[in-house]
Amino acid sequence: MNNSELKKLFNSMTLSEKVGQMGQVTPDFFSNEGEITGPVAEMKLNSGELYSIGSILGTHKPEQVIDIQKKYLENNRLGIPLMFMADVIHGYETIFPIPLALASTFDTNLVKKVAQLSSKEAVGNGIHVTFSPMADLVRDPRWGRVLESNGEDPHLSSKLTQAYVEGYQGKSLLHKNTLASCVKHFLGYGSSEAGRDYNTVSVSDLELYQNHLPAFKAAIEAQVKLVMTSFNTVKGIPSSANKWLLGNVLRKELGFDGIIISDWGAIQELINHRIAEDSKEATRLAVEAGVDIDMMTSSYIKHLGDFIEDGEINIETINQAVWRILTLKNELGLFEDPYRGLMKLENLDQNLDNIRKELEPITRSVASDSLVLLKNEGILPIKTKSTKVGLIGPKAQTKDLLGAWSWIGDKSEVISIYEGLQEQFERLTLSTIDDTDSISKQDLVIVALGENSDESGEAASRSSIQLQQEQVELLKKVYEINQNVVVLLINGRPIDLTNIVNYCKAILECWFPGTSGGAAIADVLCGRVNPSAKLPMSFPASVGQIPIYYNYLSTGRPKNESNKDEKYISKYLDIANDPLYPFGFGLSFSNFECGKVEFSSGSLSKDAPIKITVTIKNLSNISGKTVVQLYIEDKIAEVARPVRELKGFTKVSVEPLGCEEVVFEITDKDLMYIHSNLKESADKGSFNVYIGFDSLAPKVGEFVLV
Ligand code: GLC
Repeated sequence: MNNSELKKLFNSMTLSEKVGQMGQVTPDFFSNEGEITGPVAEMKLNSGELYSIGSILGTHKPEQVIDIQKKYLENNRLGIPLMFMADVIHGYETIFPIPLALASTFDTNLVKKVAQLSSKEAVGNGIHVTFSPMADLVRDPRWGRVLESNGEDPHLSSKLTQAYVEGYQGKSLLHKNTLASCVKHFLGYGSSEAGRDYNTVSVSDLELYQNHLPAFKAAIEAQVKLVMTSFNTVKGIPSSANKWLLGNVLRKELGFDGIIISDWGAIQELINHRIAEDSKEATRLAVEAGVDIDMMTSSYIKHLGDFIEDGEINIETINQAVWRILTLKNELGLFEDPYRGLMKLENLDQNLDNIRKELEPITRSVASDSLVLLKNEGILPIKTKSTKVGLIGPKAQTKDLLGAWSWIGDKSEVISIYEGLQEQFERLTLSTIDDTDSISKQDLVIVALGENSDESGEAASRSSIQLQQEQVELLKKVYEINQNVVVLLINGRPIDLTNIVNYCKAILECWFPGTSGGAAIADVLCGRVNPSAKLPMSFPASVGQIPIYYNYLSTGRPKNESNKDEKYISKYLDIANDPLYPFGFGLSFSNFECGKVEFSSGSLSKDAPIKITVTIKNLSNISGKTVVQLYIEDKIAEVARPVRELKGFTKVSVEPLGCEEVVFEITDKDLMYIHSNLKESADKGSFNVYIGFDSLAPKVGEFVLV
């Protein structure tokens, strides 16, 4: 539809039809509509209201979408089609590794590909919009939703967020297999106090602008179509009612002109936050703050019309919201084809089977690229198929490898660790702890430990980040019998591994690896794939260190090698300050080394960036990939700055005994930071440069910004 036709349609809408577009409900509202029971009754939506609703979230099958759209269009006066939205977080039905695992690849091309493939399957199921990527900055593994994030670094998260948005949306939403992307949760949700989900957030403006905003800025620069408000307060006001956050920051400063959608029930929750007396007041606060779509409450549908008729809210506020909603429906081509190609498919199931067949092998290679080798005392890879391999532990045979946000995923399709290992090893023995004799006779024993899917994700915070005690006891018993132990971890958050690290010779962090998880794990264990992933979040040595992250500020009394025994410095009495495994860390079967480093110049200016070239050597006879990381330290600044910040990362493959050159370009934009006036700029001065394979990379030089 062209703009004038869309304008004509818009101008023909009644007030209640406009208000309806700003509502969003789940599909069951349309399944039991006949007898008006269930949520329809609770939300008391009458038929007129129901058939003016603008969008649906959470359908599972294309047939369901077709049925609801058909019934809706038969009852909607102007024939304005519904938009269908869903949480396509790491795949739709064919499940990829969790986002935190995808972040471990440090590979923007891989993430973009996963988003493209996930879109293909979701579109084949009738979905138009995904509530992804989650761009929350996270530093607290007690918070279960770190699983959905890109980790603790603003630069890495910004690059990956951009890749997700570009992967979902492609060049145009009129192209098939594209989804409109909704970046979330705006803003600061990852700093929920004590890691307890939905808890209070109190971070400084400086922290918000410096660390929480960059990934959202990257999404907006990538033309993201929707932003979802977070449950939490920002400066004391819940995001969904926060005029400063949505009006000043998101609309004016970041220039976002797409749809703002609340999180599930967040408008009604303004009552629980005790800033709204009732649903009517909650409605006024949210619409005046700038929320365009009310997810899963009847606040807007029930009260917006009255506010307009009473003159309390300007119709222009509604008009702008509805125009954004109609514009997105038009960009998706829904006016021309409300089924977005579904009705043209000869066989919906065959189409989905074909997509599944295309995606499954890719989930395997993506998963093996996301596994982080944390420890290896020469025991991996397991070189021969005839090696006697024992397998034990609660994760050995489980199909629960998909992780949170995969409820449409088919667990029966999951390749378990046992099934994956069977493919690679001829003398595999599944053991229990009573099989002491068998365990003692194995060349090595794989102990598969970790969390269940419901122990991380939304509403799954934990006060302890250690493994369950019975798992630790199991490992110790196995180690007593046979010390050639390899630990596999299935988990959605960094785990405190201090109580297991001395009872094994290798640890492979597998996260929730998705549909082909067991096969991918076996590919790494047998050396078919050389691990190359790196930690996107620090692994604490204790829950007592949290929040812990690599880009910390120096403080007035920093601890260092020379003063570490002094009393009056920033330290703990009982443990070190350092994490067990730092951000950016991950081992390989190869042995990489940074060779020569060359700076194109010792000084950088606005118009003259510098290039830093580093030679990466592979000293082993095993080809492999690694992530070369470049960190910058701003020596003196107007506000306290991190001891180092990631400013460049590149995944590079190096042949045995070979070497490859990696070139980083640093511009003045890379040196910009948020000043105390909340404005971003770069100051002249000197900077240290660190390059290596994790956040402890050594200093390789310095330069000045002139
Ligand atoms: C949930 C989550 C949000 C998700 C939404 C729709 O509560 O906070 O991330 O997209 O509801 O399922």
